[in-house]
Amino acid sequence: MTKRDLGGDRIQALVDRVLPCRRVIDVGCDHGYTSMGLAQREDIGQVLATDISGPSLAKLQEVIEDGGEGWKKKITCVRADGLRGLPWREADALVISGMGGGLVRSILEGEVNLSRSCRQWVLSPQSDLAHFRTYLASLSYEIREDMVEEGGKFYTLFDVRLDGKIQPDYLEKLEEGDPFFLDYGPDLLARRDPVLLRKMRKDLVVLEDLERKLSARPLEKRGNKQESRLKEVIEEKSRLAAWLGPDR
Ligand SMILES: C[S@@+](CC[C@H](N)C(=O)[O-])C[C@H]1O[C@@H](n2cnc3c(N)ncnc32)[C@H](O)[C@@H]1O
Repeated sequence: MTKRDLGGDRIQALVDRVLPCRRVIDVGCDHGYTSMGLAQREDIGQVLATDISGPSLAKLQEVIEDGGEGWKKKITCVRADGLRGLPWREADALVISGMGGGLVRSILEGEVNLSRSCRQWVLSPQSDLAHFRTYLASLSYEIREDMVEEGGKFYTLFDVRLDGKIQPDYLEKLEEGDPFFLDYGPDLLARRDPVLLRKMRKDLVVLEDLERKLSARPLEKRGNKQESRLKEVIEEKSRLAAWLGPDR
């Protein structure tokens, strides 16, 4: 198997998170970097790489064709919508990344027998993290979170262990419904994750800038909507600054 560069820290982090296992499914594989990274690991048996789009899947199929027998033995490509109609009825791990939180959830819920047969899910939704956290917490599995920065963007990784139990403090924080914990994640906040702190500093700069813009307009010219947005921005900013404290 010719070694391939996986194209960055985000994909490497996804690959590294997967526990040694026999069978892993990479849903929505697109360029196929994650599938290739998984296949390169000797402690992983088989990779099922899927995508709903033929042209997306073709990128990986081409690499496999050109890459020789090693790749072909380890990766099977299948065009599929989520987990529907896959050749495997069970797996050890699932990786789903680079899609919206709602879509990731509907993929997990679409074929419950297959998704729940796994011991681990490695998930990295790109939007709607607050709802996604609430959904994950409702399943009561153990959740670990990581954050990766690449090209000035921040990506949250959820490592869900279906054979573990959710941490009571994670659940408690989410049940309070506080947007701060829903958006930034109880686990990352609790251990003051250094990448999260970098994201928070960036968010703080954005809020300070927004506050300056919103308050630049004279009071009598501001509508109710603008005024209440300004209030929100000031509150969010103070909360963030207080949390960062000396790490600011
Ligand atoms: C932005 S790419 C992410 C690729 C890769 N997983 C990553 O993290 O870099 C999203 C991929 O998901 C695929 N996709 C979208 N909806 C899907 C679904 N319901 N089932 C399978 N794949 C899907 C798209 O075709 C696209 O190739």
